Amino acid sequence: MRSISTSLCTLEPLVAEHAHEMFRVLSDPAIYEFENEPPVSEEWLANRYRLLETRESRDGAERWLNWVVRLPAGELAGYVQATVLASGTSLVAYELNSRHWRQGIGGSAVTAVLEELRSSYATRTFVAVLKAANYRSMALLRALGFSPAPQLQAAEFGPDADERVMLMEVRTSEGAA
Ligand SMILES: CC(C)(COP(=O)(O)OP(=O)(O)OC[C@H]1O[C@@H](n2cnc3c(N)ncnc32)[C@H](O)[C@@H]1OP(=O)(O)O)[C@@H](O)C(=O)NCCC(=O)NCCS
Repeated sequence: MRSISTSLCTLEPLVAEHAHEMFRVLSDPAIYEFENEPPVSEEWLANRYRLLETRESRDGAERWLNWVVRLPAGELAGYVQATVLASGTSLVAYELNSRHWRQGIGGSAVTAVLEELRSSYATRTFVAVLKAANYRSMALLRALGFSPAPQLQAAEFGPDADERVMLMEVRTSEGAA
């Protein structure tokens, strides 16, 4: 797993040492308007990051790839996460502190991660599961080229009734999905 640079930010592989700064970044209630909740403590976050640092599920079937998003001035803005399933499909998720919204950072960071997943992890299918009401995330995904997954495909990801599964298939130059 490597660092990735974009014109707006640098994506650094997440390690437990990021927990101190990320606790502040993620303690922003605006992030959780539609889902999830802030980390309960810095210690809790450090423990979680230690687990994520293994970069794979206990049975080795899934790759857990997490990057923190660092801005040019040096501060952290959030993270992008990808779970690469045994099938090669990647589930993506992301959170940025609201001070940094609507500046193109989320789009830039997620685009870079999708490209990394395509080129280094052979992912051809990208999936995001989110609350239907989460209009910001929905708009970001649509802007990146995601669309609602067909019902049968969506069901594989076990969405709750208030969730939507968004999908993007990348075609190879040969035209195969
Ligand atoms: C979703 C999120 C990462 C977007 O990050 P961002 O840096 O603000 O997104 P960008 O500025 O790169 O926006 C890219 C595109 O997404 C869409 N978009 C993003 N926020 C939007 C909003 N509030 N309203 C409408 N469209 C929006 C737009 O198409 C935008 O392109 P544009 O600015 O050229 O119109 C951010 O809102 C966030 O962290 N939300 C809380 C956490 C969350 O909900 N995570 C997703 C859980 S699945």
